[in-house]
Amino acid sequence: MNIGQKIIHLESVDSTNNYAANLLKSEVVSHGTVILTDNQYNGRGQRDSEWQSESFKSLTLSIILKPAIMTADQQVYINLCTCLSLIDVLSKYKLEALIKWPNDIFVGERKIAGILIENNLKGNFLSSSIVGIGLNVNHAPTQFNCATSMYEQTGGYFILQEVFLATLSAFNSYYDFIENQKFEDLMNYFQEKMLGIGSAMWFEDNFGVFSGVVRGIDNQGRLKIQKDNEIRFYGNKEIKWLPKNIF
Ligand code: BTN
Repeated sequence: MNIGQKIIHLESVDSTNNYAANLLKSEVVSHGTVILTDNQYNGRGQRDSEWQSESFKSLTLSIILKPAIMTADQQVYINLCTCLSLIDVLSKYKLEALIKWPNDIFVGERKIAGILIENNLKGNFLSSSIVGIGLNVNHAPTQFNCATSMYEQTGGYFILQEVFLATLSAFNSYYDFIENQKFEDLMNYFQEKMLGIGSAMWFEDNFGVFSGVVRGIDNQGRLKIQKDNEIRFYGNKEIKWLPKNIF
């Protein structure tokens, strides 16, 4: 159990990912150091968005990874490992969640957790990675646009410390797959838990709106979508999911 051997618990911070990035610049940080805060007041999300959370109601943390040897094209497995950890944590609390590619965690039609992974490469190797996790635990239903929370889904409140420890434990288990190079297993588990797998969904790419069947991801983490008899591959910014009921 390496991840979480050192935990830095802050009362308040702008962003645990920022704190982790500064730590990496300023001192020798050990692999698996975790930054946890009770109050994140300027959280960052994907694509320069803001991540909202509420003190003592959200789980907001960042895990610093310093993989011994991981090539740039293996970095996708950190994403897989993080998504699967959150799926396991939620299932421990009887919530069936799915991964909306690339790394949003959904219950039904609504987002319950977000992940922001910031990698540092040295040549062709990953020198460090900051895995930021935001999980909506005890929020009231009306908060944060159309996101949902564990409380809203179950009607019960959860002890944040317990959810945090469950997250560390799940992350440790999936990180073992990376350390033991069981990449194919991670890939298979991930694909089983993908939102829309095997179903036709609506998308928009540079050429317009289309319906296609989600077929999983390739080993670079690109989304595979079947359109008629052709499989198309998409990177993160190359495609948008559209709501099911657009037409
Ligand atoms: C997203 O879905 O847009 C990603 C959200 C990631 C939020 C987490 S909360 C802890 C960590 N610190 C941040 O500033 N962001 C991530």
